[in-house]
Amino acid sequence: MWPWSRRVDVVQSWPGEWPLRLTGRTPSGVAVILRPLRLDDEAAYLAVRRDNVDWLGPWDATAPRPTPTTRSFGDLVAHHEAEAAQGRSLPFVVEVDGEFVGQLNVSNIVRGSFWSCAMGYWVARAWAGQGITPTAVAMAGDHCFGVLGLHRIEINIRPENVASLAVVRKLGLRDEGLRPRYLHIDGDWRDHRSFAVTADELGGSTLRERLTQSSQQSLLRHTDPAPQG
Ligand SMILES: CC(C)(COP(=O)(O)OP(=O)(O)OC[C@H]1O[C@@H](n2cnc3c(N)ncnc32)[C@H](O)[C@@H]1OP(=O)(O)O)[C@@H](O)C(=O)NCCC(=O)NCCS
Repeated sequence: MWPWSRRVDVVQSWPGEWPLRLTGRTPSGVAVILRPLRLDDEAAYLAVRRDNVDWLGPWDATAPRPTPTTRSFGDLVAHHEAEAAQGRSLPFVVEVDGEFVGQLNVSNIVRGSFWSCAMGYWVARAWAGQGITPTAVAMAGDHCFGVLGLHRIEINIRPENVASLAVVRKLGLRDEGLRPRYLHIDGDWRDHRSFAVTADELGGSTLRERLTQSSQQSLLRHTDPAPQG
């Protein structure tokens, strides 16, 4: 018997992780809610996805091999719930002003010797540029570190995705370099840059504090008078 087998028994259930609702505000004060996808989101979800096909297409995950069945919206909700119940993901909807505006998925939650996760996200074009995604990442990230006790968060981004690179820059994630042909996106294997942060790198601070600081610094840069002469 392995010496630590009794301890494994204790940590194999993950109580209180899901369903989960987190609330926060962007640095400019927009209220953001993270919550599970519900069956009654179907009309809003389908409308937003339909209206944002061109906006999301270049960044959407695709299947490298044809999938045999088309999933219904109910199947999608059930799939998310099953993954979350197993402690493998936190599949959030992003809600602002009572509207479904996007998604933030904490995926690949792995414990063992890793205690790590990845994040993916999108917002509808109409809601872009308001700091909603960096805020959502900070809210979910602080939960991952502070409540789940994870050690590392990773975000993978196509090098040409300027808007998403801005999100990790605002949160001060570390650039870990290029992963060639890393994920199947928009119909092909695409290079990604990998960004990460570990709990110890925050030095007792939070991602939300980091975001507030970086937005104050950016405000100062934009309001500083131009140098004379
Ligand atoms: C990437 C994305 C999630 C960023 O979300 P967001 O909530 O708009 O994030 P921010 O408000 O911090 O804006 C990030 C950048 O978007 C760009 N942006 C700003 N206003 C914008 C607008 N109205 N329309 C489009 N892009 C805009 C800017 O480059 C901004 O960076 P800046 O603040 O340094 O100028 C969003 O652009 C999106 O959903 N894109 C399509 C899907 C996608 O790329 N997902 C990520 C895959 S890794």
